[in-house]
Amino acid sequence: MEKLVIEGGRSLSGAIQIHGAKNAALPILAACIMTGGTYTLGNVPSLLDIDVMLQILRALGCRAEQQGEFITVHTRTAHSSHIPEELMGQMRSSIFLMGPLLSRFGSVTVYQPGGCAIGDRKIDLHLRGLQALGANITETGNKIVCTAERLRGAEIMLDLPSVGATENIMMAAVMAEGVTSLYNAAREPEIQDLQNFLNTMGADIIGAGTDTITIKGVPSLIPCSYRIIPDRIVAGTFLVAAAITKGSISLERVNPSHLTAVIHILRRAGVQIIIDGDIIHVSNPARAKAVERIVTSPHPAFPTDLQSQVMVLLSLADGLSIMKETVFEGRFKHVDELSRMGADIRVDLNSAFIRGVPRLYGATVEATDLRAGAALVIAGLAAHGTTTVEQIHHIDRGYDRIEKMLTQLGASIVRQYA
Ligand code: UD1
Repeated sequence: MEKLVIEGGRSLSGAIQIHGAKNAALPILAACIMTGGTYTLGNVPSLLDIDVMLQILRALGCRAEQQGEFITVHTRTAHSSHIPEELMGQMRSSIFLMGPLLSRFGSVTVYQPGGCAIGDRKIDLHLRGLQALGANITETGNKIVCTAERLRGAEIMLDLPSVGATENIMMAAVMAEGVTSLYNAAREPEIQDLQNFLNTMGADIIGAGTDTITIKGVPSLIPCSYRIIPDRIVAGTFLVAAAITKGSISLERVNPSHLTAVIHILRRAGVQIIIDGDIIHVSNPARAKAVERIVTSPHPAFPTDLQSQVMVLLSLADGLSIMKETVFEGRFKHVDELSRMGADIRVDLNSAFIRGVPRLYGATVEATDLRAGAALVIAGLAAHGTTTVEQIHHIDRGYDRIEKMLTQLGASIVRQYA
């Protein structure tokens, strides 16, 4: 069992390059199976979730290798559309393969996906979208079999702007007959990246980044090379890490326009942020100020994936902050762990009331999910004494060696192997 041991109290300084976005790379890797051939993807992070996606692609008959930030996938040899249950259980994003496999093979067998325990993560919108395109779906226990002799374009209204459902439906519709209009679509930057990738393959999609996406079906696609966008959640995590340690760092290779809501909130907390092209300079010489009200919502609002990290900053801020979580109901698991480090946070339904304390204290804490784990690492950087974060496989799902990146910025953090 690996753990991270952090000696708190060091200000971060220096510069760091932000790696590619997990949430963009995963659906794009899934899309590679839509037509057989060789794809080269750049700026792909080395993460557990990416590794699981490559394992699934191999189980379906593809060849896939990662070398540094490049992944090459050969999908001509894909012969199966049955995703092994054991691999599905390891990562929710395995569900992204439904649309692409249905499109290529006319059938797909999957199981209810696994992933972070941050609430009841349904897939009904994915399934209803595929049904609207003409798929027949049979659910037996945990197993879902989806078949379609041919997919036809349709008008689809999502009940809520689900990121995954938007992406799955886009991929299934790319080679469907006719036009698909997807309303109330999610607007996350990763959806625009998927649109750009699919259009590079020859798809005809417009509208990603708005709430209406139009997909004109094309008869065929061609394999391509593509570079993944920077990870805005990793960038946001480092913005907070610099702010909480009263440090001064530069984040390189980022897209600041993907971080507008986060930068807005951090500035309200008194953090100094200067944007210079694809570089963000962040510094925070003083104690952060409380922020009265932050509400997580779909993009372009404040992202749920940075709620726990920003909460740590507010736990040391001057005054009372209120954070409302509207995307995932189970996303306050880090609160108990932060309380053990001295934070004063009360949760009432989906709101957290955070009364800033002068200091946090090192403790042994447990990462309960990916972003909660990152938040505990940040708390450890600012705490007095030693913090040990356990269950760090969650963190490895989304951060490419977080301890290496933080050490580069002057933190004292080591990975220990029990
Ligand atoms: C994606 C991101 C995740 C992020 C989330 C919200 C990836 C790989 N993961 O997850 O990091 O936290 O967006 O920004 O991109 N829902 C339904 N039915 C469905 C699908 C979703 O009710 O069929 C609900 C979920 O339970 C949740 C909400 O919709 O409450 C948003 O989920 P969704 O946008 O689908 O998140 P993911 O795509 O799973």
